[in-house]
Amino acid sequence: MSIHIGAKEGDIADKILLPGDPLRAKFIAENFLEDAVCFNEIRGMLGFTGTYKGQSISVMGTGMGMPSISIYVNELITAYGVKKLIRVGTAGSLNKEVHVRDLVLAQAAGTTSSMIKNEWPQYDLPQIADFALLDKAYHLAQDMQLTTHVGSVLSIDAFYSDFTENNIKLGQMGIKAVEMEAAALYYLAAKHGVQALGIMTISDSLVADEDTSAQERQNTFTDMMKIGLETLIS
Ligand code: HPA
Repeated sequence: MSIHIGAKEGDIADKILLPGDPLRAKFIAENFLEDAVCFNEIRGMLGFTGTYKGQSISVMGTGMGMPSISIYVNELITAYGVKKLIRVGTAGSLNKEVHVRDLVLAQAAGTTSSMIKNEWPQYDLPQIADFALLDKAYHLAQDMQLTTHVGSVLSIDAFYSDFTENNIKLGQMGIKAVEMEAAALYYLAAKHGVQALGIMTISDSLVADEDTSAQERQNTFTDMMKIGLETLIS
């Protein structure tokens, strides 16, 4: 086992879906995977391995924010040999054309975090999605007729902040949404030479007054999970 994951070598598939919420990992395992077995309960960060359309797939929560996802992604890659990682999460819209329940495929992620800068102080490295995964997910979303935006997101450290004016300006510059994990995921994937993608559904808007019901949220999450799973096995 690694420090934060109580699995044995071989317990985790080389393809993994990463929701922030560990209970959503359980939901995915129960509703989409066959013969799912729980491989981690440390800190309640549930992880499962099962099969999807005959292929071995894992799913595990990451917690919220870049410090949390970085711990799990580091260990998944270096201790368990995971090669394809897809984050399925929520994001807040920064753009008036990006509505609640829409899908955002994060082609690139900027960040307010110093995590990457601490390792590369003299560079602003671009954090980008794996193109093959992005391309596959985009076409699946098109086939499912989902409203899908492809572009950059901003991965922030502080969920609560007072930067309303900045949010509007960032949206006007084409940044689709704000969330808290993609930049670290993309950086670690690049660092270790593996593939990663962030798929988000918009749960709230920072620039418009939009709301959504629990049932609507559940349906869009389910669509996102299908896209994530189909992209992983392609
Ligand atoms: N801010 C940051 N992360 C988020 C948000 C938000 O509004 N919504 C979902 N994830």
